[in-house]
Formats: sequence, C-alpha cells, structure tokens
Amino acid sequence: MAVSIAFHAPVKVQVQKDLKELFLQLKFSRRDLIITEERVYQNYLKGIVDDCRVVIRDLLGRGPNTADTVEMAFKEAGSSYDRVIGIGGGAVLDLAKLLTLERPVPVKSLFEMRENIRKTRSCVLIPTTPGTGSEVTPYVALYISELGQQLILFDDELYADKAYLCPEFIKNMPFSPLAASMHDAFTHAFESYLSPLASPFSKTICKEAMQILTKAWLEIAKDGVSAIQDNLLNIQLAGSMGGIGYANAGCAAIHALSYPLSVRLGIHHGEANYLVAKEVVDLYLKKNPLGAIFDIATSLAPLLNTSPEHVFDTIDNLCQSILPRKRLSAFGMKENQILEFTDLVLTRQNLLISNGYVQLSAGEIANIYSKLI
Ligand SMILES: [Fe+2]
Repeated sequence: MAVSIAFHAPVKVQVQKDLKELFLQLKFSRRDLIITEERVYQNYLKGIVDDCRVVIRDLLGRGPNTADTVEMAFKEAGSSYDRVIGIGGGAVLDLAKLLTLERPVPVKSLFEMRENIRKTRSCVLIPTTPGTGSEVTPYVALYISELGQQLILFDDELYADKAYLCPEFIKNMPFSPLAASMHDAFTHAFESYLSPLASPFSKTICKEAMQILTKAWLEIAKDGVSAIQDNLLNIQLAGSMGGIGYANAGCAAIHALSYPLSVRLGIHHGEANYLVAKEVVDLYLKKNPLGAIFDIATSLAPLLNTSPEHVFDTIDNLCQSILPRKRLSAFGMKENQILEFTDLVLTRQNLLISNGYVQLSAGEIANIYSKLI
C-alpha cells in the first residue's frame, strides 16, 4: 500500500547570534511596522527603530489577543507599511501575522470566514521566548471574551517569510517563564511525534527537539540555570523544531487538557502543559506502551542513563527537581470544575483529542483532573 508523506516548512529560519548584526540585516525603514512588547522595546529597540511605526502589544491590554486588541493594533498600525516585524513572545508574533493581512471588518470575521484571508505584507518574526514555535507555524490564537473561548485560525497565508533566532533576547529571561517555554516546546515535539499525521521528516525534527531539551534539563539539574546560558540557541532551535513539528502533525491531548487551565485559571500555557503532561503520558503508556511512544523512550533512554520503560518517570523526576509541579487547587481549581473542564476539552478541543496517540474517554479526562486537583 502506498504511504502518503507530506511535510511543509516554508519559513526561512536564520540564526543570528549577534543583536547588532541582526539589526543591520533587518535594515529598518519607514515602511516597516514593528510589533513588540514594552520590555523588549525598552531593552533592545528604543533608539533603533525610531523611523518605523511601532505598536507595543502590552499597551493594548493584558492577557491573550482578543478581537479588541487586534482591532486596536490595526488602527494604530495605519496602512503605510509593507513589512511587519514581530519581536516578542507568542501573542506578539500572532498579532504580527494578523497585521500582514488585508484588514477585515470586523476582525472576528477572520476567524469565522476564513476565505477572507489575504496576506498583503511581508512578515518577519523574531521570538524572544523559546517555546511557542509561532515563528514557524501558520496558526494564530484569538480569545473571544464573550464566549470565554479561544479560537485558532490556521492558513498558509499566516506563515512568516522569515524568522530569526537570536539567543541574546532570552539571555536574561527569568527561570520560571523559561522553564514553562521549554515545557511547551517539549510538548509540541512530543505530541507531534505521536500524531497520526507525523511523517519521517517531522518525527526526526521532533526527536531532535526532545533530545536537546532533555539535555538542557539534565544540565540545569546538575549545575543550575546558569549552565544553559551558553546553550540558549539550542533551546531556541528546539522551540522552532517543535513548532515545525506541530505545524505539520498537530498537537493532541496534553494541549487539549491544558486549555481549560489557561482560559479558566489563567495558568501560563507552558506550565499548564507541564501540569497535565505526566498523567496523559501515563495513560498513553497504559493503553499503548509499545507504539511510537516507545520510540521516544528508546531515543531518550541513553541520555538519561535508564531503560526505555523508566524514561518518562525519570524525566518527570528531573523536571520536578527543577520546578516542582503544583496542584491545580493551588491555582484556585475547585472540585465542581472537573466536569466543566472535561466538557470544555471534549467540546472545544475535540480536534486535538482526536489527533491523539490513543483516544481518551470523558471518564479518563475527568480522572486526570481529579488526580491533579
Ligand atoms: Fe503550545
């Protein structure tokens, strides 16, 4: 039987270790629109991008992108720009992708009527956190406040033309968000590897990403977070690799179960993945221990100096020694939310659940929340 293999990585990714060199290459001009965040602007861009129009994402409102923040950004951006340069975390990069499109009225219609999507400007994305992988994906998340729901837009028009990885941007990142980003990147690689849509291309990239991140956790556990300061580029690379993985094969149950934790409890996306990952992995191992998950275990076992059967417990112990996992009750989750969260997963994240390594029932999902609360 012929096997169909599809793999897509259209974004040109360039590593630029030196910030000054990066800015020289970008050749900022009056026709550029910069989307960034206050911290990045003050620390790196002030005085450098004075000729460009600049939109500071945090000044439009806190939290995830909403239709209102996107409307405000379009308004501030005006129309006299040919290139959008996003420099920041996931929400900044997502916003930059939207601002390359022909302006829809209202913005929400973009997410409801995807046929309207038309990219009219070029797009350069420069992540300043290493986990989202947004710089290499065709996805944009939008939070719909009225519904308490996040919608995902995906379209090839949302791919950037170019992404730059510059480790100087994450050099002084506090450990907690850095660790959360690493968990997000690992989860992208892990879920994409196990996806029914995975190909030999995406699997190879995802396996490499998981190995890089496992090595980084080992280094941090041994010598502290300063041990990875010279290795930040590898962590950025792992983030982009995970992004290429899920742009091709998609995420699954860990992202689905972490969703209510972020939209209802306000937990950082990467940390929310970390909180639910171990229970999902244990269920996967119980239901199908010898499928693709065994390949991952086999590839990571030598790094961890253990047998494949003990890989995921070893990784969990390692991560817990670096960043102990809190119970969901510490974030304010109540027993009566278990069913609500389970329902959110099954109704709003059903595409992710159906892309899983094995299928999870409502009872199994509720049981995971019960164990974690
Ligand atoms: Fe993610």
